[in-house]
Amino acid sequence: MKELKVSAIRDGTVIDHVPGDVVFKVVDVLNLEKSSETVMVAANLKSSRIGQKGIIKVSGKILTKEEVDKIALLAPNATLNIIRDYKVAEKASLSVPDVLINVIKCNNPNCITNNDSVKTKFTVVSKDNIRVRCHYCERYIDKEDIKVL
Ligand code: CTP
Ligand code: ZN
Repeated sequence: MKELKVSAIRDGTVIDHVPGDVVFKVVDVLNLEKSSETVMVAANLKSSRIGQKGIIKVSGKILTKEEVDKIALLAPNATLNIIRDYKVAEKASLSVPDVLINVIKCNNPNCITNNDSVKTKFTVVSKDNIRVRCHYCERYIDKEDIKVL
């Protein structure tokens, strides 16, 4: 008998298998603090797959492409579930796309994206060990230095 650690939701999004150390980072980049919908966050649950996991459930929410890309960078092995009428209507795993628009902040203070209202744009040059390159100033940023917007 499978016991739900967090209540089921009727409609919305469930982000599952989020590593423990990034659960609250995901909550942060999704701006859930500002949400008026029901938000449930669980951390440090036991998972046979990844040892420890977190789950984030947001009623009534469909993620934007930008939000999905942010989660792909922070928690590449998370699972996205879209819930409709209490059923898992769609389940998707994440992947980092070739181009990231408005997802990462450029680390170069002189970059136009940090000085004008220009959306950031990065080309993903490596996906195993994530490395990206700014379309505007051509600076490379490695995984550990990536700042998700
Ligand atoms: N869920 C939910 N509300 C629902 C239905 C499902 O919150 N009405 C949640 C479940 O608690 C789970 C996730 O959505 O965290 C995915 O549901 P399901 O596919 O049924 O679970 P698993 O089979 O455990 O998923 P996976 O195979 O991805 O581990
Ligand atoms: Zn730049």
